[in-house]
Amino acid sequence: MLAEIVALLACPHCGRALRLEGRTVRCQDRHVFDVARQGYVNLLPGDARTSTADTAAMVAARGTFLDARHFAPMSAAVADAAAAALTPPGAVLDVGAGTGHHLAAVLDALPERVGLAVDLSRYAARRAARAHPRIGAIVADAWSRLPVRDGAATLALSIFAPRDGGELARVLAPGGAAVVVTPTPDHLRELVDALGLLTVDEDKPRRLARALEGHLTLEAADVHRHPLTLDHAAVEAAVTMGPSAHHVDAAHLRDRVAALPSPVRTVADVRIARYRRGART
Ligand SMILES: C[S@@+](CC[C@H](N)C(=O)[O-])C[C@H]1O[C@@H](n2cnc3c(N)ncnc32)[C@H](O)[C@@H]1O
Ligand SMILES: [Zn+2]
Repeated sequence: MLAEIVALLACPHCGRALRLEGRTVRCQDRHVFDVARQGYVNLLPGDARTSTADTAAMVAARGTFLDARHFAPMSAAVADAAAAALTPPGAVLDVGAGTGHHLAAVLDALPERVGLAVDLSRYAARRAARAHPRIGAIVADAWSRLPVRDGAATLALSIFAPRDGGELARVLAPGGAAVVVTPTPDHLRELVDALGLLTVDEDKPRRLARALEGHLTLEAADVHRHPLTLDHAAVEAAVTMGPSAHHVDAAHLRDRVAALPSPVRTVADVRIARYRRGART
């Protein structure tokens, strides 16, 4: 992991700065964390709850789906939104980064920056650590205090991921921005209808705004939509990587997918919003 990325981190036990020493990351108070062979650091307290973390199978399915570039236009739109935010120079933080696919696209668009991928799943962190030479990855919980220093980043990403407005604002420097991507009710609608998947709540944008209000200011929001043509393997990956994977049995899913026409035509349909952290603290 790059020392430049470790410098963004705070010890999860005492809050002090962390520094890289060989294959470990440590604070002045002698709390020590190993850099895993795969290049990420686990900063979760031992008793942390990880029930919402993506499993190995979900992360593998997400990797397959994203590597096939089915969400490439969305990834490009996120990178455009990130560049258009015109944030001051500084690090990019992706909370709930998954495989690091979208963060890598953002770093390609912002060649001077380093990126920190945060995820509750060690399978995701492992993969994100390898997604781009300028990414460092940690395992941490978006619903707890992030092991990240105040104002450490100037750009934050939250893409289909849990978000805590107060924490996003804390880790952003004044003038920093957050790019927040959420699915609309039309996202993968044909799969949702045909396979009985979890649906997106129509009220989500309002709930999202309420959760971030008071911490960050909404500057812009656009719906980004592109068509998808998916064979059965891609449909299976799309379902296995999503929230319904926690509720659908794999064998049952395969039978339901086999009964669908091939290819399945659907749309990626997301809201990309940009929020700003004001000068006040
Ligand atoms: C739907 S995936 C999105 C991943 C990535 N942003 C993308 O769009 O490809 C949600 C991610 O959030 C992670 N996650 C779930 N609960 C979390 C939490 N409390 N803190 C941090 N990450 C969490 C999951 O492990 C998963 O990688
Ligand atoms: Zn410490």
